[in-house]
Parts: sequence; structure tokens; C-alpha cells
Amino acid sequence: VADAARPRRRAVTLADHLARLIALEGPITVARFMGEALLHPRHGYYQGRDPFGAAGDFVTAPEISQIFGELIGLWCAELWRLMGEPAALRLVELGPGRGTLMADALRAARLVPRFRNALSIHLVEASASLRARQQAVLAGTGASWHERFAEVPPGPLVLVANEFFDALPVRQFVKQADGWHERLVDRDPAGGLRFVLARDRLPEGDLLPAMSAVAPPGSVIEVSPARSALAGEIAARLAAEGGAALLVDYGPAASGIGDSLQAVRGHRRHDVLAEPGSADLTAHVDFQALAEAARGAGARAFGPLAQGDFLRRLGIERRAAALRARASPAQACDIDAALARLTDAAAMGTLFKALAIAAPALPPPPGFDDADSPKP
Ligand SMILES: C[S@@+](CC[C@H](N)C(=O)[O-])C[C@H]1O[C@@H](n2cnc3c(N)ncnc32)[C@H](O)[C@@H]1O
Repeated sequence: VADAARPRRRAVTLADHLARLIALEGPITVARFMGEALLHPRHGYYQGRDPFGAAGDFVTAPEISQIFGELIGLWCAELWRLMGEPAALRLVELGPGRGTLMADALRAARLVPRFRNALSIHLVEASASLRARQQAVLAGTGASWHERFAEVPPGPLVLVANEFFDALPVRQFVKQADGWHERLVDRDPAGGLRFVLARDRLPEGDLLPAMSAVAPPGSVIEVSPARSALAGEIAARLAAEGGAALLVDYGPAASGIGDSLQAVRGHRRHDVLAEPGSADLTAHVDFQALAEAARGAGARAFGPLAQGDFLRRLGIERRAAALRARASPAQACDIDAALARLTDAAAMGTLFKALAIAAPALPPPPGFDDADSPKP
């Protein structure tokens, strides 16, 4: 058959893949949908074009200002001091994006040469295309890359993760007259995908937080076993080997009710189920659940603090003033705008929060104090 006469096969998309998966296995959980949409090896969102910046889909704190990564680098250096200045320390970042935070942190770390010399850098990144980008930005730092946190070799560590946990999958449950039913993703008879509810209700148990008992019908509760498991894994490592972790993300300080699953494309909200893999997909981080998982694994948890308060405690205003002092008028305007964006309540200052997890023997990490670590 001549090529021209062959029927043309439609390119396989993530939507095709999901439709096939659902045909084989039945409706899938929201968590499975998120995992496929973000990290499918060929069609996942993070395998595609660069999602960051004005030309992409969203902007993260390290991309707004170098000060963010610099302050976190100094936070890590101070922790190293609190840990008794170990000769070897693993500096771990989960989901490094473009590698900007780590590059800025390492530049700041040069101010404390013995700290910088103690570091081995470990980056946990699931996306092959972002990993290549990070390798270019962090060339010459001796960094190594891992698919999972569990692959980071043993030893004392300081870990940072900015806007990482929001990308880990959540499950959703909806309250009906007879109890809680899991929300699933099914094929829509008209084509595309739709939400449905599992026929069987969730058996009574401890998967849902206590307030589920008093939630009115129609309520949605999100839980993320994946996030809690990872927070527990990190905490167990810190408790056993020493060190601390800083998790910065957006979401409520206390577990609550509500559907926060959102897709963002080109800086705008996008339909969660339309063209999966073409938009970022996140859900708010339940900091209470992370803190409980960390304490349950034997570490201390501090906060969360509002990002604005946390950055002010680390001295963001002084650092901005120092940069402004040697800036042109246009650059000074940019510095002020970035400072406002990172710290103002109307921007990222309140919705974004910082949670620290630390080995029990350590004093409170910089920015936090004992009052930020409630007794269980
Ligand atoms: C929203 S971006 C944040 C990037 C960066 N931390 C920043 O602040 O700019 C999420 C990052 O986490 C990575 N990622 C998402 N899910 C992951 C997973 N399950 N395992 C490893 N990396 C993951 C993405 O590829 C990306 O680098």
C-alpha cells in the first residue's frame, strides 16, 4: 500500500491513554489521574515544555527573586552550625524545577566556605526534561540526581522543597447521605472524561480526618497518603541521622474541608479534566497532616508559618535594602515588586507557608522557635 493511501493514525495523547486505562480497569482515583497527568513518562505535564515564567504556566518564589533561594541557602548554613558543623552534609532538594533555588542557595553558601565544602548536593527529580535543565544550571557543583527521596544515600541531611508537595497526588471523598464516597475519573459517554462517585461508601476507618464526622452532605475532603508517607519518610531519616527539612508550599495550616484541585495553564485556571497533561495540576497542601506524619515518625515539626512572616524573620527586608542600595531605579522597582509579591498577604505572603521538620535533638531551626512547635 502506498504511504499516501494508509489511514493516518491519530497521535496518542494522554487522554487516549487514560481512556484506555479506564476501559481496562474501570474509573480511576483522582490520585491516579493526577499522577498520570503530571508524570506519565511520555505525555505527563512535567515531561513537556518549560512550565515556568511569564511565557509558561506559573511563576514560583525562586523565579520571582534571587533573595528567596539565598535566604534558604543561609537557613541551611545556620542549620549546619546548629548541627555541630558536621564534616559531611547532604543538601537535598525535592522537585528543583529550573534549578534556580539551588543555584541561588549555593551562591549564598559561599559566604560560609566550611559549610559549602561539607556539602554533597542531591536533587530528586522525576521529569527527564527538567533534570536536563537542572544539570545545565548546576554543572560543576558535583550534584547527583535521584528519582526518589529513598535513593538519597544515608547521612546527616538538610532538605528543602518548594512547591513540591502540592504536585503529589490527593484522593478526594464526597459526603453523601449514607457516608463518604471516593471521587473517581471515568470516561464521559460524550467523549472526554468526567467525575463520578464510587458506588460503595468508604468503610469507617482512620483515612479521613476527625472533622469528617460533622461535615455536611456534599462536602469534599482531600487526603494525600502519598504526601503523608513522604513527610514520614523524611522525618524518620532526620530523626535517625540528624538534620532538618524546610517545606514551603500553599495550603491551610489546619486540615479542612473543600475541593482545592486545580489546573493552571498560561497563568489561568483550566478545566481539570480537559486535555490532561497540558496544564499543571495541584491541590492545596494540608500542613497539619504533614506535621502529624512527621511527629508520628519521631521528628519535631515547627509551624507552619506564613511565608511573609518566615521570610521577614530570615531578614528579607534587610537583604532587599542591600540589593536596592546598589541598584538602578528600574532595578530598585523590580526588587520592591518582588519583595511585595513574596511577602504581602494579598500575594504569596499568607497562603504560602513554611513548615520545618527537625531531628528531636536540634534547637528550633532559623525563623522558628519553640512556640512554633506545639506539643503533640
Ligand atoms: C511546581 S514545580 C516547583 C519547582 C521548584 N521547586 C520551584 O520552586 O521553582 C514541581 C517540581 O517537582 C517535580 N516533581 C513533581 N512531582 C514529582 C515527583 N513525584 N517526584 C519527583 N519530582 C517531582 C517537577 O518535575 C518539578 O521540578
